[in-house]
Amino acid sequence: MIQNDSHKVAVITGAGSGIGRALAERCAVEGMRVVLADINPADLAVTEHMVRAAGVDVLSVRVDVSRAAEVAALAEQAMAMFGAVHLLFNNAGVMGAGAGAPPWETALADWEWVLGVNLWGVIHGIRAFTPLMLAQDIECHIVNTASVVGLLSFNSYAPYHASKHAVVALSENLQQALLQQGAKVKVAVLCPGWANTRIMDVGRFDQGAHLAEETETVQRMRQAAAAGVLPSQVAECAFQGIRAGRFYIFTGHDADERIRERMERILNSADL
Ligand SMILES: NC(=O)c1ccc[n+]([C@@H]2O[C@H](COP(=O)([O-])OP(=O)(O)OC[C@H]3O[C@@H](n4cnc5c(N)ncnc54)[C@H](O)[C@@H]3O)[C@@H](O)[C@H]2O)c1
Repeated sequence: MIQNDSHKVAVITGAGSGIGRALAERCAVEGMRVVLADINPADLAVTEHMVRAAGVDVLSVRVDVSRAAEVAALAEQAMAMFGAVHLLFNNAGVMGAGAGAPPWETALADWEWVLGVNLWGVIHGIRAFTPLMLAQDIECHIVNTASVVGLLSFNSYAPYHASKHAVVALSENLQQALLQQGAKVKVAVLCPGWANTRIMDVGRFDQGAHLAEETETVQRMRQAAAAGVLPSQVAECAFQGIRAGRFYIFTGHDADERIRERMERILNSADL
């Protein structure tokens, strides 16, 4: 992308916390104008305050990314305010509340919530913003946040795992489609390992409050997140990856061997 990002416009979903907030701060450091979107207005206000302190123009919009109309309205508001969008981070995501449960025991509401945010949120983002970016006919970038779990197979939390595999596949598909058209819109899929954010604090969401159960698996995952990299490191990796023109962007190499093993198992038709 754009080597000089000053005054470019970035849209970040899930900007109220964690990786999204760090991406927003990083965009502000680059001098970009930012559009912050999140379902939580209070968290959004905190990020807005932090980003404004860097002296850049900000638009904050309360958006539920699982709703197509709200994401379409976000795109309209971003265009109305800034007249262009150069960089889109489809980042909002939730873990869901039933971690540790096998797929058949996971509540339907949890399946719908996690896929609604993690997968449909990205689909809505792509559908709302790609046509605008194509029409601009300038260099743009769409960065979808998946996870290393989107490249691995193991007994993890099924809705989250399935959603992240889908985001990887969707991003690959989008990239191929844009390349075939010779478009100036580029794609990357951000695949972080554990990062120290509020991802495991599911009780703060309405759906999470209904379903949350503190299982041993949840406790283990909470500890893993707390021991993860800082959100600012994820943002740094994202920017380095975008600038290097990488499609798959990782935040470390801890999972390399497991990704390789998975690919070999598939090619060898080996059992899981
Ligand atoms: N933290 C990790 O270890 C980790 C690892 C790999 C991938 N990820 C991914 O990174 C992304 C960001 O997660 P995070 O770790 O910063 O978590 P986080 O919980 O700190 O931040 C997620 C943000 O998304 C917002 N959000 C939730 N539902 C929304 C909705 N329906 N519409 C709009 N916004 C919504 C939340 O309010 C929150 O501000 C997610 O896609 C997550 O799956 C996180």
